[in-house]
Amino acid sequence: MTSSPRPLVAVTGGAGFIGSHTVDLLVARGCRVVVLDDFSTGKRANLARWADHDRHGLGGREPAVEVLTVDVSHGLFAALAPITAAHGPVERIVHLAAQVSVVHSLANPLTDARVNYGGTVQVLEYARAAGVKKVVFASSAAVYGDVATLPVDEDAPCRPLSPYGVHKLASEHALHCYAAVHGVPSVALRFFNVYGPRQDPSSPYSGVISIFADRAAAGRDLTIFGDGEQTRDFVYVGDVVRAVVDAALGDAPGHAVANVGTGRETTVRALAEILVGLGGGGSAIVHAPARAGEIVRSVARVERAAALLGFRAATALRDGLAATVAPPPVT
Ligand SMILES: NC(=O)c1ccc[n+]([C@@H]2O[C@H](COP(=O)([O-])OP(=O)(O)OC[C@H]3O[C@@H](n4cnc5c(N)ncnc54)[C@H](O)[C@@H]3O)[C@@H](O)[C@H]2O)c1
Repeated sequence: MTSSPRPLVAVTGGAGFIGSHTVDLLVARGCRVVVLDDFSTGKRANLARWADHDRHGLGGREPAVEVLTVDVSHGLFAALAPITAAHGPVERIVHLAAQVSVVHSLANPLTDARVNYGGTVQVLEYARAAGVKKVVFASSAAVYGDVATLPVDEDAPCRPLSPYGVHKLASEHALHCYAAVHGVPSVALRFFNVYGPRQDPSSPYSGVISIFADRAAAGRDLTIFGDGEQTRDFVYVGDVVRAVVDAALGDAPGHAVANVGTGRETTVRALAEILVGLGGGGSAIVHAPARAGEIVRSVARVERAAALLGFRAATALRDGLAATVAPPPVT
């Protein structure tokens, strides 16, 4: 086994949208990274800059990223055993792997339970046995359901309206339990609407920004469901991964929960207008009937993440959208 002063961090879902940006920032902060992903929605292209194994593998010459094809709901022990035997223990885990669609979870609640709750318990079982120093979990604003008071803070009652939200909340409870009973430190970050480069616009479940950005760039119409006055808290992926990585590399004991948003409320109509402008103005905004059950307003209270992690989202919406429409070159 080779020893290294650079922490070894496992990133589940590391080939996905948020995961691949997390990997990039961990490497920039001097970590060694092992990605566990089943490539159900993640893409090898998102990790292409780390693909030269002779240079970038854990035994390679340069910043180290190893990629394992694993379904986390089947457990982490077998996949990680050869890695830890050769390169030392996994010290921290960022758990992002998930079935990410609310709509899919309503139609397939048992699959969602296996992957999203079961996957978290598998991560925690590994963390407990391996003495992992911190688990960071990608939770979601979906844990709140419809809230009475905005901006929503972490102590608001959680009444999720989908199996996806239920299993994110159940995962948070499991993290709390493992911290209290087994001493596994953890942070659950409740992401609001994350956007940025590498978000997949081709998925029918994709976030509104990636779909609008794709259509505006091609000069096609943007369809708003309802009047466009519904609001969301859109937070740029480059900001989100700062919160994720700072939480993962921190040494606070116990369990904590924090929203990750901007604290700013944006209407879908305003969003569409900015994107039409960035796309050159060739697209029209059209309206379709409102979707049943859609939450009307959503915005995060952000003080907890500031106090806990020193985190504040820094990217203005227009700047983040410009980077999404024309992604910065890979360096
Ligand atoms: N994008 C958002 O706005 C948002 C908001 C709230 C929470 N989240 C959460 O953030 C995390 C990352 O989401 P994303 O937007 O990057 O989506 P994504 O689909 O790009 O990433 C999910 C990754 O997990 C992988 N994965 C799925 N099931 C797996 C399994 N069983 N085993 C191993 N890997 C598996 C996928 O292949 C993919 O690479 C998810 O947990 C999601 O629920 C995202």
